[in-house]
Amino acid sequence: MKRLIAVGVVALAVAFTGSAFAADGAATFKAKCAACHGADGQGTAMAPAFKANKFILESKEDVIAATVTNGRAGAEKKYKQFTIAMPAQGKVLSADDIKAVVAHLKTIAAAK
Ligand code: HEC
Repeated sequence: MKRLIAVGVVALAVAFTGSAFAADGAATFKAKCAACHGADGQGTAMAPAFKANKFILESKEDVIAATVTNGRAGAEKKYKQFTIAMPAQGKVLSADDIKAVVAHLKTIAAAK
């Protein structure tokens, strides 16, 4: 029994340490996305806004994550008013970071 408790304590410690290093979507957004999409996701002359963004509000997380991972360039581009492409982030960010930043985009899009 004592042994079981010890194992439990170690497992909990690992779980908490893990969460301390959990991907931080807001920090990733600030570091990797804000330059083009705006500090508050309000959009800039270079890239679309996420506030009230239909694609963010209406798409499933994995669809948005795929856009972030692969970017959007050339014929796939949706916005003609922004001449640059959405740069692929799949080699820059981990899957966990992308998941966290997508959750952050959902928060921005839904904010009033
Ligand atoms: C170099 C500028 C730039 C950076 C940096 C950038 N983006 Fe983009 N992003 C764009 C542009 C331009 C588009 C519009 C592409 C198009 O025309 O479809 C876009 C589009 C998007 C879309 C689709 C929006 C829609 O309405 O369809 C998502 C989602 C997105 N970006 C997420 C991100 C995330 C998350 C980051 C940071 C990890 C990021 N972007 C970093 C320029 C950028």
